[in-house]
Amino acid sequence: MKIKLNVWRQKDAADAGSFETYDAADVSEDMSFLEMLDVVNERLTLEGKEPIAFDHDCREGICGSCGVVIDGRPHGPKERTTTCQLHMRSFPNGAEITLEPWRAGAFPVVKDLVVDRSAFDRIIAAGGFISAPTGCAVDGNAMPIEKENADLAMDAAACIGCGACVAACPNASAMLFTAAKVSQLSLLPQGQPERWRRVRAMVATMDQEGFGSCTNHGECMAACPKAIPIDHIARMNRDWLKASLRDGRRVATSGDSAAG
Ligand code: FES
Repeated sequence: MKIKLNVWRQKDAADAGSFETYDAADVSEDMSFLEMLDVVNERLTLEGKEPIAFDHDCREGICGSCGVVIDGRPHGPKERTTTCQLHMRSFPNGAEITLEPWRAGAFPVVKDLVVDRSAFDRIIAAGGFISAPTGCAVDGNAMPIEKENADLAMDAAACIGCGACVAACPNASAMLFTAAKVSQLSLLPQGQPERWRRVRAMVATMDQEGFGSCTNHGECMAACPKAIPIDHIARMNRDWLKASLRDGRRVATSGDSAAG
């Protein structure tokens, strides 16, 4: 199949950036989207031109490194699919495809399609951990956990931190990411010792990093390759409110917020 690519090219964070057009011939419909970009880059390299920079690592949909806005949709047209798991058969022969980086103030462009997502790392560092010693794997059922909570925690833990939720949100909110990381711990016994401190610290860091607030558009859930539900945002907001009250603070006068 033949395709035409309109690709966002930007030398570095200071560069204004612009779209450049490339024709890609002999693209197999069995190629992944990233393999197609590899082929385009091989040709650019042979021509002495700068290859298109894009993030990737596992190429199996588990690391969260890849992420391209494809025709206006983070990770492209297929639901519950990362860019690396998207195949060219999802596009018609002769398609013209527009590629952009994640667009969010908290994710500055590093180069071309690569953005700096270290703001997510700082949110995790603020509280996305437990202090309980975990030791070796314990025997099954040694620590009974309600099935519903176990399932919800596992669903939240499916978040790969790719940032598609931020890229899809009109407010560039990181509420779905932060809520998933809060929920995966707050739903389990091991996450209880830091439960209240965690939610306040992670939400405060999220706000400090410049992410927007949630206004319930739901675009984050639609773009999430792991289909993390926005119920987790409501759970995080409840925990944040309880944590604020436990601290004896008046929510209305506190410095941070958990909108939604
Ligand atoms: S490269 Fe790891 S999720 Fe796509």
